[in-house]
Formats: sequence, C-alpha cells, structure tokens
Amino acid sequence: MSKQELIYKQKDCLGLDIGASSVKIVQLKKKKSLTKLMGYESRELPDNLVIEGIISDHDKMVKIIREMMTETQEGKFSVEKVIASIPDKNIFTRVLELPKLAEKELKEAVMWEADQSIPMALTDLTIDFQVLGPSATKEDMNDVLLVAAPLAIVNSYVQLFERLGLQPEAIETSLVSVIRALVSNKEHDEVMLVADIGARSTNLGFYDHTLRLSDSLDIGGKAWIDLIISGLKVEKKEADKLLFSKGLKDKKIESLLQPELENLNNEMQKVIKYHDERFEKKTAKVVLCGGASNLVGLTEYLANSLGIEVKIGNPWVNIDTYPLKPVPKSEAPAFANAIGLALRSLEGA
Ligand SMILES: Nc1ncnc2c1ncn2[C@@H]1O[C@H](COP(=O)(O)OP(=O)(O)OP(=O)(O)O)[C@@H](O)[C@H]1O
Ligand SMILES: [Mg+2]
Repeated sequence: MSKQELIYKQKDCLGLDIGASSVKIVQLKKKKSLTKLMGYESRELPDNLVIEGIISDHDKMVKIIREMMTETQEGKFSVEKVIASIPDKNIFTRVLELPKLAEKELKEAVMWEADQSIPMALTDLTIDFQVLGPSATKEDMNDVLLVAAPLAIVNSYVQLFERLGLQPEAIETSLVSVIRALVSNKEHDEVMLVADIGARSTNLGFYDHTLRLSDSLDIGGKAWIDLIISGLKVEKKEADKLLFSKGLKDKKIESLLQPELENLNNEMQKVIKYHDERFEKKTAKVVLCGGASNLVGLTEYLANSLGIEVKIGNPWVNIDTYPLKPVPKSEAPAFANAIGLALRSLEGA
C-alpha cells in the first residue's frame, strides 16, 4: 500500500443520516479516480423515536444503529469516524453578505448577526460559519454560511456517538451534503433548487456554485400515506404500495393528495420567486431527492405547475458499487444525504 493510500484510509468516515422515518449509513472509499462503495444500510425507525430532531430514546437508537453496524447486509463498515447531519428544520441556516474581514472580525460579525436574527439565546446554541466565496450579487462582499444548532440537539447526537464508540468528525446541515451528492460536474455552473422530500419534512436548498438559500417545510411522505390510509380505508402497507406504484396516475389518489401537492407547489413557487428576485438569477431546474420523491407522477406534476424542468437526482451515479448489490431504484434517492456526508470525508483525498 502506498503512503498516500494510508492517508486516505484515515480520512474515511461513515455518512450517517438519522431521518424521521429511517437511519441510513454509507461508507465510501477513494480508489484512484473511483469512488467505491464499501457498505450501505438503511433501517426503518419506529414512529416518534426522533421528534423535532431530538432522539427520544437513546437505548433504542443505539440498539438499531449497532445492529446496522454489526449485521450489515451490504458490505462492511470498517471505520469509527462519523459525519452526521442534523435535520435542517431544527437548524438556523442563513447565508450572510459580509465585507471581506479578517478571521477575528468575521467571527464577531457572524455572532452579531446570529444574535440579531435567531430567536434563541446564543448560549443555547452551537454556532459555526464558513466563507462560501464572493457574494453572488456584490463583488466586494463575501457570502458566509452561518449555521446554528440548538445545543440540546447537538449534545444528544454527541452522546449517541459516544455510546456507539463512534467519533464525530463533523455534524453538518443536510442540505450541504445533499447538494454535494446530487450536483454533477456537468451541472456545476447551473442555478438550481434541490428539494429533499422526506417522511416529515421537505428541505429546499438553492445551489449556485454553493448553497445560497435554504428553507424547510412541514411536508413529507408520512402525511401522504396517512391521507391514503384514511381516504381509501387501507392498511399502511397497502397505502405505501399504492403511492409508489400507481401514485398520481390514479385519480382517487390524486384527488386525496391534491391539497398537499398544492401546498408543496405554492411553497416552492414562493421561495423560487424570492430567490430569483434576491439573487437576480433564474432557477433553471429542480432536483428532487428523499424517499417521498418516489411518488409516481410527482416530477410531472411539479414540472407542469412550476413551469421548469424537474427531475429526480441520483446520488449513486458516480459511485462504483461493484461487487455490492446496487440499491433498488426506488430507494436510491433517499440515500442522497448519507452519501453526501460520506463524500465529505473524501474531499481533498
Ligand atoms: N418505494 C417506496 N415505498 C414506500 N415508501 C416509500 C418509498 N420510497 C419512499 N417512501 C416514503 O419516503 C419517506 C421516507 O423518505 P426518507 O427516508 O427520505 O425520509 P427521512 O429521511 O426518514 O425523513 P425526514 O427527511 O423527513 O427526516 C416515507 O414517508 C416513505 O413512505
Ligand atoms: Mg431525510
């Protein structure tokens, strides 16, 4: 093994995405120009184990993740370092336009902005920031990403990792990792909206070389399933199947979901309008991911109502899965966040 490969190995981290409905873990490895899949796993979570981003029962979560690590069905997890995400809904994310300042002054400016704009005491928050680069609109300013997470949530994650014997290398906002996983080299210069539609929330992130603006909506697959269960008087399993086999092609399902779809469309339209006006740039397309983006007919519905190109992103596209079994197509977009987190540890490798 060359010296360089040893260094790469030390950097590998697990990408761990704890969502409202499931946990996903991915481990990747850089091998020459390839990004190789070492292992992946997804497990459903019981309802209410994660409430508003807080893990309500650590014993249960430890047991589930431990099982995922030891009884891995696809590949093997061989590192103890982990990069995890906190749901965007529970994080304050702002892209600030600040003058090009020295580190100390920059920190003061960021803290001042945080104090002004976040409705929580700074002492109850973990605050971090990152200079994204020159501002999209003003040349002499920088765009600075401010991320603040409630200490209660961060601590609950740190405690979980301690119990699992994992070392947290970083905890990042999920939209940053989703963008990392989904924006292909070909799309590098495009302005687009990435929408992660999960079980309980939809996270929206505008990409223009980096994350420029984000929003989080209380919209997701769980409510859609509940509408089908009560509207068609079917069990959850059957509702699941109907949504993701017939979906909006079925007139009854379409009419039951109509208010939810309109809500999603209206919220997306509003935020696209705001983005395009504020940054004086037109959002060229929408890239969907997350489990609920599998709803049959959703891309067509949104493309029609928003009037722009909408597609489902494939976070696996640049990953060499051989000799492991590729993820089934319907599960592929739900892994975007975990893949993006694992990819972060390979950056610069
Ligand atoms: N093929 C499928 N069959 C059944 N359900 C699916 C399928 N694909 C996705 N779903 C739905 O996707 C949702 C889960 O998506 P995902 O794993 O992205 O959510 P999460 O990350 O757990 O939640 P959140 O992001 O809101 O915290 C569930 O509501 C589930 O019903
Ligand atoms: Mg999710």
